[in-house]
Amino acid sequence: MEKPIAYIQLKDGREAEISFLSKKDSTRELNRFINALVKEEAPIIAGSRVSLKEEQKWKDKELAGFKRGERFLLIAKVDGKIVGTSGAIRDRGKSKENVCLGIALAEKCRRLGLGGELLKLCIKLSKKFFKPRNIYLGVLSCNKPAYSMYKKLGFKEFARFPKWIIQKGNYVDHIYMKLQK
Ligand SMILES: CC(C)(COP(=O)(O)OP(=O)(O)OC[C@H]1O[C@@H](n2cnc3c(N)ncnc32)[C@H](O)[C@@H]1OP(=O)(O)O)[C@@H](O)C(=O)NCCC(=O)NCCS
Repeated sequence: MEKPIAYIQLKDGREAEISFLSKKDSTRELNRFINALVKEEAPIIAGSRVSLKEEQKWKDKELAGFKRGERFLLIAKVDGKIVGTSGAIRDRGKSKENVCLGIALAEKCRRLGLGGELLKLCIKLSKKFFKPRNIYLGVLSCNKPAYSMYKKLGFKEFARFPKWIIQKGNYVDHIYMKLQK
């Protein structure tokens, strides 16, 4: 396992340990994490179950991209179990000065202050590693918790693709928000 880079105090008294994704992180556990979000029909882009083979491929891609300095993924663990991830990916080619962030937590670890603190850390590290011109993210219009958290952390909506994504059988807008400097 990678050495922890930070600790986040949760509102229930527990502590989350944050580290970069490492080869040693269990592919099976990562797979369970994403598939629980898929099963819940969480408002994220992933919409169908991920096989273990696909998960391994994804993990290898994440690690290779990290090595090349193109992306990073933070893993949050509570009591040794993966409860959240937050990542940053630098856009490619002529858009390389823009960095896209993402975050998702396991259902049982929400509303404990972890999301806000984890995203703040992701922003701080993105600024340090990529020195980006823009830090942005995408959010579904039905995702009030995330939208409100992003606003609170200084993101502002700058684009909206109307009725773009199917979420629980309905078309919802895909909103893009940019961090204000
Ligand atoms: C969005 C998410 C990361 C928020 O993380 P969290 O740990 O629950 O958020 P926090 O406890 O740190 O709360 C931070 C702020 O977010 C907002 N928020 C979080 N949950 C909320 C909810 N259920 N309703 C309204 N606002 C909410 C609030 O503004 C909150 O500030 P407050 O506590 O002062 O009211 C988490 O709900 C999650 O992983 N959801 C499922 C996956 C997902 O939607 N990912 C984002 C895709 S764009």
